[in-house]
Amino acid sequence: MTQENPTILVTGGAGYIGSHTVYALKKSGYKVIILDNLVYGHRDLVKSVLEVELIEGDTNDRQLLDKLFSSRDITAVMHFSAYAYVGESVKDPAKYYRNNVIGTLVLLEAMLAASVKQFVFSSTCATYGVPKTVPIPEDHPQNPINPYGESKLMVEKILSDFNNAYDLRSVRFRYFNAAGADPSGLLGEDHNPETHLIPLVLQTALEKRESISIFGTDYPTGDGTCVRDYIHVNDLADAHVLGLKYLLKGGNSAVFNLGNGNGFSVKEVIQTAERVTGKNIKAIECDRRPGDPPVLIGSSDKARQILGWEPKYPHIQDIIAHAWNWHQKRHK
Ligand SMILES: NC(=O)c1ccc[n+]([C@@H]2O[C@H](COP(=O)([O-])OP(=O)(O)OC[C@H]3O[C@@H](n4cnc5c(N)ncnc54)[C@H](O)[C@@H]3O)[C@@H](O)[C@H]2O)c1
Repeated sequence: MTQENPTILVTGGAGYIGSHTVYALKKSGYKVIILDNLVYGHRDLVKSVLEVELIEGDTNDRQLLDKLFSSRDITAVMHFSAYAYVGESVKDPAKYYRNNVIGTLVLLEAMLAASVKQFVFSSTCATYGVPKTVPIPEDHPQNPINPYGESKLMVEKILSDFNNAYDLRSVRFRYFNAAGADPSGLLGEDHNPETHLIPLVLQTALEKRESISIFGTDYPTGDGTCVRDYIHVNDLADAHVLGLKYLLKGGNSAVFNLGNGNGFSVKEVIQTAERVTGKNIKAIECDRRPGDPPVLIGSSDKARQILGWEPKYPHIQDIIAHAWNWHQKRHK
């Protein structure tokens, strides 16, 4: 394997953000191997669109990992695989700690045994909990309010300790709300169950569901509904390629927020989706859900300055238009 063409192991590469990143890695000339247990991932997508090797397996399987690392010349690992349903994590925290924390620990130990010491990790703005200031900078206190956020924070701490003890260098990305789809319409967001606002709104536009629920209309925001920072999935993917290059050049472990630095309310997202799709989208106003902060907006200045990252699709209408393109093809 040449240094210009290293092999990257991508866990969770058959999922939403992982698949877009695999696509971006391939375009940048990297060789990719996906490890995904396909609990939520899509085999067809890997076969027909990504066209990379898929190893169907679990990050908790140390034997499989040892075999994988000893038989391939893997330079770095990008770790997307995790469970990410906040509500489920409250009801069944064991499932989240086992998969997200233990599954990562097993993977990291297998990496160390094989002397693979470069790691890109999917963390989340959920590690901040209820923000004291917005836009949230990376040094904002981290006080997660659910086991999902807690599981990601635990991994962040493990990575910091592994850097100090074993020189395992990592880039930790704290994403805000991933949304959109590759403009080609070949890849997109296909979670089942789906809990994210934009796909739910578009499924409503496609009459796949009757209505969209707005949880809380009395928040201290412009129109009373929650405000979130939506970041195009391709911009996340680009940031991962830049984060990888940074590590391969010898960069120190670092943490970066990934968001657009501006927020849109639930009602603004629905109105924009109505404009993009040309459809009426039926919305039902409901009570607040416990644990939803009114506003979550991230400052990504650090990623811009250190990685040279610049989002290509910062406008909410582009994010929704690309997602709509994908949804129409997906549900044809
Ligand atoms: N989607 C978002 O808005 C968002 C925001 C912040 C952070 N994240 C994080 O980004 C990552 C990717 O999110 P996504 O939306 O693409 O999720 P996703 O569910 O689409 O992808 C995760 C993939 O990991 C696989 N997987 C899960 N556990 C596994 C295991 N033990 N071994 C092997 N494969 C396993 C699943 O089959 C799936 O293909 C997750 O770590 C998530 O916590 C996502």
